[in-house]
Amino acid sequence: MSELIARSEEAIALEDKYGAHNYHPLPVVLARGEGVYLWDVEGKRYFDFLSAYSAVNQGHCHPRILATLIQQASTLTLTSRAFFNDVLGPYEKFITEYFGFDKVLPMNTGVEAVETAIKIARKWGYEKKGIAENEATIIVAENNFHGRTTTVISFSNDANARQSFGPFTPGFVRIPFDDIPALEKALEDNPNVVGFLIEPIQGEAGVYTPEIDYIPKAASACRKKNVLLMADEIQTGIARTGSLLAVCGDCTCEGHCEKQSTYTRPDILILGKALSGGFFPVSAVLADNPIMELIKPGQHGSTFGGNPLGAKIAVTALEVVLDEQLAYNARRLGRIFRERMMTLVKKSDLVSLVRGKGLLNALVINTSAESSVAWDICVAMKDNGLLAKPTHGNIIRFAPPLVITEEELHTCCDIIEETILNFKK
Ligand SMILES: Cc1ncc(COP(=O)(O)O)c(C=O)c1O
Repeated sequence: MSELIARSEEAIALEDKYGAHNYHPLPVVLARGEGVYLWDVEGKRYFDFLSAYSAVNQGHCHPRILATLIQQASTLTLTSRAFFNDVLGPYEKFITEYFGFDKVLPMNTGVEAVETAIKIARKWGYEKKGIAENEATIIVAENNFHGRTTTVISFSNDANARQSFGPFTPGFVRIPFDDIPALEKALEDNPNVVGFLIEPIQGEAGVYTPEIDYIPKAASACRKKNVLLMADEIQTGIARTGSLLAVCGDCTCEGHCEKQSTYTRPDILILGKALSGGFFPVSAVLADNPIMELIKPGQHGSTFGGNPLGAKIAVTALEVVLDEQLAYNARRLGRIFRERMMTLVKKSDLVSLVRGKGLLNALVINTSAESSVAWDICVAMKDNGLLAKPTHGNIIRFAPPLVITEEELHTCCDIIEETILNFKK
């Protein structure tokens, strides 16, 4: 490879010519990150308000996670699961105690963890619930986003994500999000349901936060029908929404739960993204023994899943979340962010509402979903030193690293406000 890229246009031209066009990035070429900041190749500094889709909750290049990475990368990186390694066991003990489950199945990317959870739930359905082979059904929500594999897009209703990628995997039923009667009906109608796979807040769809009692009620409906509650907390988990997990609701225990009444414990918990603080793809599926012990050697795996480098990084990444009280910071600063944005909504006709939880929020732009205004606003915010992206059409997601300070947050709110108030359509 030749020298480093010195100008944005060069990097964009290279990606355009040699890379598949499966993303539509904002025109900024990043070269460095630290905490809440990113710098482009020309040296301009930005506030990061995307956090790599909530993978960098601990802030860019967190020094403690970096030190762990360097130490482990120079000791042992990959053994495969053909052998034991001296990091995986301690990691498994740590993460299962941290989240309160008997066992973990380690994977790499988020969608692999979702696939893993689907396989585990189906196996449980056949071997424990007595469902006839190939009849297992999993209930999912409209507008879900759980990743990009062929099985996972099989139950998406995003036409762009599915077009020309069929045939699709059967065994999924979709119901409206945040609709308990629809869930109860789907459970009643089909005796072959093994699981309800749900994002406690729909991030990609546009940060849709359900009624406060949606998840607890869904859990009890599932329990009544002996169906597994499968929480995809890949984007919402690990302090992003102001508690350790979004299923914790408004519980403020930071993971050491004493108020079990407000904590809905899923039967299967799916994690990814911030599990590694953005250093390495690390994902995980957690469940208790009666479910997880159904998986036997040779039935599931991944060459990199459970590798010592990822496992060691994940321990430090999770320690940072507790030691730096990131859930508390997300909860406190999230309230301030929404208050500031509500003031903006009152001042500007261009924005119609703000919604979210903790530091996972969205601003809805007062245009149609097909309009390019939200994109143009993101380009203008970039010019003003803040990086965010529309999720769907006219919705802009705001998800800074959780290490952001109150002062920085106010500076960012000023940038958003000035950009919107000065924006010309
Ligand atoms: C809720 C949810 N599930 C699954 C995924 C897929 O994760 P990955 O992109 O690491 O495969 C994402 C990614 O955005 C997500 O937000």
